[in-house]
Amino acid sequence: MGNPLIIAIDGPAASGKSTVARRVARKLECVFVNSGEMYRAFTWWTLHNQVDPNDTVAVVKLLEETQFTCGEEDLVGYVEVQGRRLTEEEMKNDAVNSSVSAIAAIAEVRARLVAEQRAFAAESSLVMEGRDIGTVVFPDTPYKFFIDASPEIRAARRSAEGIEDSIEARDLADSMRTASPLKVATDAMVIDSSFMGVDEVVDLVVDAIQWKSTPNVTS
Ligand code: CDP
Repeated sequence: MGNPLIIAIDGPAASGKSTVARRVARKLECVFVNSGEMYRAFTWWTLHNQVDPNDTVAVVKLLEETQFTCGEEDLVGYVEVQGRRLTEEEMKNDAVNSSVSAIAAIAEVRARLVAEQRAFAAESSLVMEGRDIGTVVFPDTPYKFFIDASPEIRAARRSAEGIEDSIEARDLADSMRTASPLKVATDAMVIDSSFMGVDEVVDLVVDAIQWKSTPNVTS
């Protein structure tokens, strides 16, 4: 498909954006990056260091002392915090779920992690999913998607994964924060996946990307 592509996929918790983003990346042979993992990894590190997630001064001090290493393996992005790569269980445990939105609301944390996220684009084409990828991280990309689903369906999807998660509280905190709140980019394609299968959403996203990237077609 010619030039490197940056595909931004945003949306609220458990909207299915991770599954969709991963599949779109595989189809287009791009690197897949879950930006939420970076916020989760630093939240885990904060708790591991017994720093109170609501104590911004202490969190920022820890941030300054922390080294992040980001890269990709087999077209999947990873983050290491102070040389440590976390397991899925560590990143998704209850304590992380209930503290991650407080950590992600801190402007200094966002600035540091957004810089890491942008560095991925220097290396290769990518699909990145999160909350502010189309609005803040890569505002110039023409490939922006916002994947939504009703609150009931999202809660059901998360509990089907067997995970206890306060998605309502996180969505509220993520939407109300001052620093890069969760919102739809004005030029994003919004997809309500409530009554759609994963394949259907993936096909819609891939078709839209191919249509937009075809020369002589104006958007
Ligand atoms: O998988 P799920 O959609 O539940 O969440 P996630 O993508 O793992 O993100 C976890 C948390 O990280 C979110 O609730 C946000 O507080 C924060 N986050 C963010 O602020 N900005 C991003 N680009 C990605 C995640």
